Amino acid sequence: MKLSLCDGWEFTQTWTEDFALGKGKAQQVRLPHNPREIPLHGASPADYEGVWGYRRAVRLPETGRAFLQLDGAAHQAAVFVDGVQVAEHFCGYTAFRFELTGHGKPGHTVWVAVRLDSREDGDVPPFGYVIDYLTYAGLYREGWLDLRADSLISDVFVHTPDLKTAVIQVETDSVQQDHTLLCEIVDGGGKAVWQGREDAGQRVVLTAQVDGALPWTMDAPHLYRCRVSLLDGGDVVDCQEVPFGFRTAVFQGDGFYLNGKRVFLRGLDRHQCWPYIGCAAPRRLQEEDARILKDELGCNVVRTSHYPQSQSFLDACDALGLAVFTELPGWQHIGGEGWKARCLQNIREMILQNRNHPCVILWGVRINESVDDDAFYLRTNALAHQLDPTRATSGVRNFEMSHLLEDVYAFNDFSHTGRNPGVLPKEQVTPDMSKALIISECNGHMFPTKPWDNWARRQEHALRHAKVQGDSFYSHCHSEKDCDASELRDAVSKVPGDAFCSHCHSEEDCDGSELRDAAESPAHAGCIAWCMFDYPTHGDFGSGDRVCYHGVLDAFRNPKLAAAVYASQRTDAPVLVVGSSMDIGDYPAGEIGRVYVFSNAERVLLYKDDTFVTELHRDATYPLPHPPFVLEGQDLGEWGRRAGVWRFDGLIAGRVAASVKKGPSARYHLLTEVSHTHLHEADSYDTALVRVRVVDEFGGECPYVQLPVTFAVSGDISLSGPALAVAEGGMTGTFVSSVGKKGKGVLKIAAPQAGEAEISFTVTV
Ligand code: GAL
Repeated sequence: MKLSLCDGWEFTQTWTEDFALGKGKAQQVRLPHNPREIPLHGASPADYEGVWGYRRAVRLPETGRAFLQLDGAAHQAAVFVDGVQVAEHFCGYTAFRFELTGHGKPGHTVWVAVRLDSREDGDVPPFGYVIDYLTYAGLYREGWLDLRADSLISDVFVHTPDLKTAVIQVETDSVQQDHTLLCEIVDGGGKAVWQGREDAGQRVVLTAQVDGALPWTMDAPHLYRCRVSLLDGGDVVDCQEVPFGFRTAVFQGDGFYLNGKRVFLRGLDRHQCWPYIGCAAPRRLQEEDARILKDELGCNVVRTSHYPQSQSFLDACDALGLAVFTELPGWQHIGGEGWKARCLQNIREMILQNRNHPCVILWGVRINESVDDDAFYLRTNALAHQLDPTRATSGVRNFEMSHLLEDVYAFNDFSHTGRNPGVLPKEQVTPDMSKALIISECNGHMFPTKPWDNWARRQEHALRHAKVQGDSFYSHCHSEKDCDASELRDAVSKVPGDAFCSHCHSEEDCDGSELRDAAESPAHAGCIAWCMFDYPTHGDFGSGDRVCYHGVLDAFRNPKLAAAVYASQRTDAPVLVVGSSMDIGDYPAGEIGRVYVFSNAERVLLYKDDTFVTELHRDATYPLPHPPFVLEGQDLGEWGRRAGVWRFDGLIAGRVAASVKKGPSARYHLLTEVSHTHLHEADSYDTALVRVRVVDEFGGECPYVQLPVTFAVSGDISLSGPALAVAEGGMTGTFVSSVGKKGKGVLKIAAPQAGEAEISFTVTV
């Protein structure tokens, strides 16, 4: 029985031995816990480095065994029971569990205390040199008390060599001779679709054949559960359940195959942080990030750079059909032998804790962007393949022709400068053309872009994403020997009259040189761009305020223009975003230049003051499924002429599916989006993400409107973040949490000139 152990903790900023014995007063806290609020700008390790203490009274069971599990303890944890050290752990990004049984009398209450050292220690990965992100502190994920029988199931690993077969590997501890194992596969509706029995042993492998199994795909990610019961005659001694999916995930020289079908992986890198709360985020916030990636940005892959992330995030990726490339903690630096031994332990924990997630398709077993170290990386690869013979390994490089000991070459392709092809040709990057090449990062520091940068820069930021994503996709479509660009044509055929097809398939008015550059490079398996959102970092990076403005979203997950490159590849809802304010005053000499429209519409028509001006064409320089439209060669205004209102209509099947107006605005209002308004306390408190944007009278973004925004809560909720913020680039946000009480609450948001907004919450516990 796994019980949440998120409540009832006490916290101190000054660890002492007395604290471990339950003496003195301390602050009551709940997990996930962030020791100190992290400022939006100018955050630094000084905000979280320290030796903190957590303690909790835990009642030991009368019979059976008890385990305590902490999902995230940053970064070195020593665990004490009634003042005696019983366990330690040296990774802030993997869970660890330890047995409490025997450390106190059955039925008695003991003090469990954690001495948590969050300082950067060069003996513990990822530390030892510079790092481009903050590492935070605290027991920042969930905690669990697992009460079990004396004989127990210690692990269940399910993998699916084909779409009808599940191989179930069960490990047990202290089972008796006459114990048996009953394995059941349960479908999404709760129906058992397969059963098998075996005598219990230390390690037992069963093979299930499920003929009607529904596959886990990106569009319909069917999930099953494997329930394993340890039986003593007819009595259930122990029972464990793990989710899994029937799917195969294979990388080959020409790309990635999900269930035998080649799929181009398009996505973003993700850190696990938020403003103010650092990385202490409960389930729903983690799920919201996965939802934004899949549903708002249309990504089908995410890389958990540069460490394993929350189970809640991976659960959401499982449920949404979002593929995951996860990796061991580290950033460029490789330490000494002791440090490497810890890396191997980190890989072990990463794989054992995550190998049932169907979403995970690739293990990163090299330190991100580290040099070749064959002796070390032979060991990391061997360990990964031993613990999980089903998944490919990779490792992220920032240089070409590295020794390829993994199954997939992951490359941070930062070659694009805005004026050249988006990607390097595959043969220039990898020493082994027979293995897959995936872009694991691009753009990022090549073009940091703030929400309040001018329109030209923000549009350029978007176009750079479009270029790298486009060229890597194009190479994917053109890599098969008998390639007839069918995949790309299928994609663009949804856009009749699209410029790309004619560009690609006619030689008359186009020498196609740029496309050829990309096409000459055989398949990329995918492109994961840097990165999902802006993040706080160390002083060695960032824009001077220790923030890397590398996101396609801001830190609150509000979209920058570049987000529209991704969103406009979706096919499930119309998207139309214009890359200009259409105000001549924002451009040198009043010349707006080329305006790009990121849209999945079939046609985009432009009107000025309701009079038709022109139809935009798609720009084949960006060979995406939905390349952006470009507006050029038009008279868009002149200094000294009266401004008007521009309207962009996006047509699908002859009808206006999306329409955007642009013009000088004198009125602002608040646009709020909340992840959910029903807060529910299940395993812990619940937190909602509230995104706030100041928009103009046409509903458009206001990058220069830096208004103060106030947040005030009443009722049974709390605010995680300051009561006064600034809409930076017209965007901000906050977090609203439950406080352990059933009830209601209201969040009031106000900004001068932009009015007020009110969001009502209900809380259940
Ligand atoms: C890479 C690195 C990332 C981030 C990115 C910025 O070198 O792997 O963590 O720093 O650059 O573009």
